[in-house]
Amino acid sequence: MDIKFVAPTAGLPAKAAVARIVFEGDAYEGPLARAVAASRFTGAKGQTLDIPAPEGLAGERLVLLGAGKRDAFNTLGAEHAAASAYNTVKATGLETLRVELSGSAELSAYAALGVRLASYRFDKYRTKEAADKKPSVVRAEITAVDTDAALAAFVPLAALADGISFTRDLVSEPPNILFPVEFAARVKALETLGLEVEILGEPEMIKLGMGSLLAVGQGSIRESHLAVIKWYGAANKSDQPIAFVGKGVCFDTGGISIKPADGMEDMKWDMGGAGAVAGLMHALAGRKAKVNAIGILGLVENMPDGNAYRPGDVLTSMSGQTIEVINTDAEGRLVLADALWYCQDRFKPKFMVDLATLTGAIIIALGNDYAGCFSNNDELSANLLAASAAENEGLWRMPLPAAYEKQIESMIADMKNTGGRPGGSITAALFLQRYVNGVPWAHLDIASTAWKKPSSVPTSPDGATGYGVRLLNRMVQDKYES
Ligand code: BES
Ligand code: MN
Ligand code: ZN
Repeated sequence: MDIKFVAPTAGLPAKAAVARIVFEGDAYEGPLARAVAASRFTGAKGQTLDIPAPEGLAGERLVLLGAGKRDAFNTLGAEHAAASAYNTVKATGLETLRVELSGSAELSAYAALGVRLASYRFDKYRTKEAADKKPSVVRAEITAVDTDAALAAFVPLAALADGISFTRDLVSEPPNILFPVEFAARVKALETLGLEVEILGEPEMIKLGMGSLLAVGQGSIRESHLAVIKWYGAANKSDQPIAFVGKGVCFDTGGISIKPADGMEDMKWDMGGAGAVAGLMHALAGRKAKVNAIGILGLVENMPDGNAYRPGDVLTSMSGQTIEVINTDAEGRLVLADALWYCQDRFKPKFMVDLATLTGAIIIALGNDYAGCFSNNDELSANLLAASAAENEGLWRMPLPAAYEKQIESMIADMKNTGGRPGGSITAALFLQRYVNGVPWAHLDIASTAWKKPSSVPTSPDGATGYGVRLLNRMVQDKYES
């Protein structure tokens, strides 16, 4: 998608649609007034009215984009309206989308972001799609009074969009293509952005004593990896870093505690946490964020096999704590246990935020528009929730009650890896808390938000959402950059 900013008076190419942002209470004249009167269009937020361009107007079609109350219009409104314009015009056969809005350069930049995110498509494995089924829009022109200022405001947003697209690609890839080795290779390739990437293989992890993470990958013929991504963007490279840790289960069959066949294909996106951390690091490097940040990805495949780990096994984690395996399908916490411990042990970060498609229970608790936030630190938690509100990525704080610890007590080891059905997301988080060594930490259970079908926002096509990249990028920008 080619996106540019143009002056409001710029001439329009052939095969173009004009999308105009309008508000509740706006008045219309002539044929446009007739078209509006003959519809339910009121200018309310999210409404669109798509008509052949009335006599005297440039372009082939006109799309009115309802943006609600004029006074309440903001960057999110511009972004969503422009995304809806794209979603409408992509099916018309027209090739250029002109989005008309008046206002600040920032509003124009966010409109461009809306088109960028809405036009994301994962179509590399389609070989036979008919031309008239493909999105027709190849070019977007966003009007801006000061096009240079709009472009300058768009630069960091384009870096954010690149990060989100990177995450969406990783999450969308099938598990026969994106297994731990391939995931690690794609992350290693991010070095061209100025990131430093280390890939640890099984021999290195054996030396480190990562018996918990390694057990999960033991039934797979694919080697497990730990990716360590470093961005030293702060003025002082020795400033204490912030850290992000992702669950990267490239496919989760459940292992010996195998999952039912129905819907198992969804478990290709069980690496969504690692995908979000990789996308965040991409965005931070892309916009040269003034912060030192570490991303750690635990990359494994959970398979049933003659060599697979079993229910009943006792594992020794890098921390020295032992774990009795009750269910091999509660594997994400085993991966994170070693990844979190390694992270705090090596980098002594200011805080750690982990992202993981950890439990089905979080979907039952919160539905698909909120991820769960579990934290041992009120300040970190407040910063995450503020960023969530600013970026429209739903997040809800959940409790970490000490009284539930007894659900993960084991008869023979330091803990069990499952706490039963009651409060399943909470006992999973309590398990993780035992591996953060008192460091300020938050766990985002994104099983509810990493993948949506159907999508609930115009900026996210069905499927991989890239959830978390935006929220964390915003938190870093607002609270942790020097
Ligand atoms: N990857 C799953 C969680 C999941 C479920 C993510 C549905 C997305 C959609 C995780 O590894 C898992 O299997 N969790 C179990 C835990 C249980 C065995 C304690 C679950 O949620 O059922
Ligand atoms: Mn599982
Ligand atoms: Zn899993």
